[in-house]
Amino acid sequence: MPGYSVPDRFMHHTFLWGSATSSHQVEGNNVHNDWWSWEQKGAVIEKSGIACDHYRRFNEDFALIRSLGHTAHRFSLEWSRFEPKENQWDERAFDHYGEVFQSLKKNGIEPVVTLHHFTNPVWFHERGGWLKAENNAYFLRYVRRVVETYGKYVKFWITINEPIVYLYYSYLAGEWPPGIKSYRAAWKVFYHLLLAHVQAYRLIHDLYEQKSAKPVYVSLAKHWTEMRPDNPNSIADRVTVFSRDWLFNRLYFDALTSGFLFYPGLFCEYLPLRQSLDFLGINYYTLQRIRSSSKTGEWMGAMVEHAPGADSPVERNQMGWVIHPEGLSSLLKRLRPYHLPVLICENGICAENDEQRVRYIQSHLQAVTSAIADGVSVAGYLYWSLMDNFEWAHGFGPRFGIVEVDYKTLQRKIRPSAYVLTELCRKLMAQP
Ligand code: BGC
Repeated sequence: MPGYSVPDRFMHHTFLWGSATSSHQVEGNNVHNDWWSWEQKGAVIEKSGIACDHYRRFNEDFALIRSLGHTAHRFSLEWSRFEPKENQWDERAFDHYGEVFQSLKKNGIEPVVTLHHFTNPVWFHERGGWLKAENNAYFLRYVRRVVETYGKYVKFWITINEPIVYLYYSYLAGEWPPGIKSYRAAWKVFYHLLLAHVQAYRLIHDLYEQKSAKPVYVSLAKHWTEMRPDNPNSIADRVTVFSRDWLFNRLYFDALTSGFLFYPGLFCEYLPLRQSLDFLGINYYTLQRIRSSSKTGEWMGAMVEHAPGADSPVERNQMGWVIHPEGLSSLLKRLRPYHLPVLICENGICAENDEQRVRYIQSHLQAVTSAIADGVSVAGYLYWSLMDNFEWAHGFGPRFGIVEVDYKTLQRKIRPSAYVLTELCRKLMAQP
């Protein structure tokens, strides 16, 4: 088929485009994970409950994706469904996700599969979760099982979704389970998640090689935030941006492509594998303006603070995040030196007004199109999210979907922005 095909290692593959979800946010009744317990304790404003009931309605949802022409779909497997109790495996979960894969296949949609998207089985949490290095073995045991079972359906695996966002909210801000607020804990988790990725990367490749199976591409989904100094003339602000950008945006990719991890406190580590990314999975949403501060309680030794306040005249999403498509252009250019294709695993907006979503999709896809024209290798674009869903501590208020969900009836309604996404991605694919 003529048109845009992704250079480098994805040469044989056409552009992957569509949308993304995660198990706990859409499935409903994930009663065996730590988020569910957290919600029952009343730690957040709303409980996920039945969510979008995607667990039972996935066939209907995939038919809808097909009607929109998507070529790919990103979703996550829920570890706590496979292994609700330690080392007790639930066959019903294996059957369920088997049907999910078959349904995607029947609809001609390429799965992009996340193994860990913010949730853990309760028993794993009780064993110390990601704070203990030896617990990585539990994660790998689950990875082995699901990759052995579903490898025949999958070319694209995402090991861990947004490790740094996860550890920030769960181990530093204490707003997500397990609700810990400790730098020491956060650093441990930082390192254990990095190792978990490397170990899972190697395991997945080994399993595919043993079966001489089709090529497989493994990455993680790295949240990337555009950062600007609040005052460009302030050296303190610029130093803060530099260090925060390094820690939050680049450090994982640098470590996973070089095999060498250097982090503050003068610790150095060599990872057991030098190159453990086949592409760069990126989640991009927003711009942060950074002002250096002597207040405690933020990243990088108490010197960072977000600015400016809500009164500044920039466009924001429903949760107050600044809309900044130029950030996507600049990040795509900054990723060039890694010499790996980029898969945009998430990019999206929560908005009450779908026209704002249309503008967001147009401006961000324009950024992708220009980057491709400038020679950046972009393997695909997955909008967050297919449908409105459970936005973690914010509950069901923020509306990210190109498909609207009526939470009373659970009916789905395609929003106009969904058609804009289709039109623009098709145009992009048709480009020479
Ligand atoms: C996460 C999603 C979340 C989205 C919007 C990403 O950080 O991967 O789970 O819903 O952002 O906040």
